Amino acid sequence: MEISVLTIDGPSGAGKGTVSRLIAQQLEWHYLDSGAIYRALALELTEKDVLHDSITEIVEVALAMDLVFESGEEQLVILNGQDITDLLVLESTGNAASKIATIPEVRAALLQKQRDFKQAAGLVADGRDMGTVVFPEAQYKVFLTASALTRAERRYKQLKLKGIDANLLKITTDIQERDQRDSERQFSPLIPAPDAVYIDSSNLSIQAVVEEVLSLVR
Ligand code: C5P
Repeated sequence: MEISVLTIDGPSGAGKGTVSRLIAQQLEWHYLDSGAIYRALALELTEKDVLHDSITEIVEVALAMDLVFESGEEQLVILNGQDITDLLVLESTGNAASKIATIPEVRAALLQKQRDFKQAAGLVADGRDMGTVVFPEAQYKVFLTASALTRAERRYKQLKLKGIDANLLKITTDIQERDQRDSERQFSPLIPAPDAVYIDSSNLSIQAVVEEVLSLVR
């Protein structure tokens, strides 16, 4: 039997991570946080002092990355034996990730790592190109978005909760810059799959979004 896949794509701060995790828990499916893979690679490149224009070297690092997601109350991300969970959430990591994510060779190198998450009983895949490129065959596809201001405010609260210093204006500018880069890039840009259900979460609670997405699957 074909393994079920639910893809949730959209810009940063739309609530994809929280919603995807809750749905994966409820359905008892696996969860792929594809953004974390791009973020982990960005960190590894900084750690190894690899420049963003050394494409061959970046691809080598991408293919060699030993990345483990440990699910528990909070997801832990272990890169080559080191817990990088706290570094992953930094805005600087997201920005660096979005820069290397424009390189087609990098995207190709990370494709199989992402597809390996498709395992029984099913997968909730969260990202930018899950429904268009990585899992075009997915049975259920959602494009989850929210206004830029709502997304910036959510990100601000998330960072504050984690005790990380944050500035709302700076976050809003960063989000707009990142949206533009993600949407305008030539390869795998952030666009809804033609068969995706579009949900604007600006005025919806997390629970309401979860219910709406679950109703598509059930
Ligand atoms: O989702 P998250 O904010 O963690 O993603 C960080 C960056 O990684 C995004 O801004 C985007 O440029 C890139 N990304 C991507 N394709 C994905 C997931 C993330 O290009 N499927």
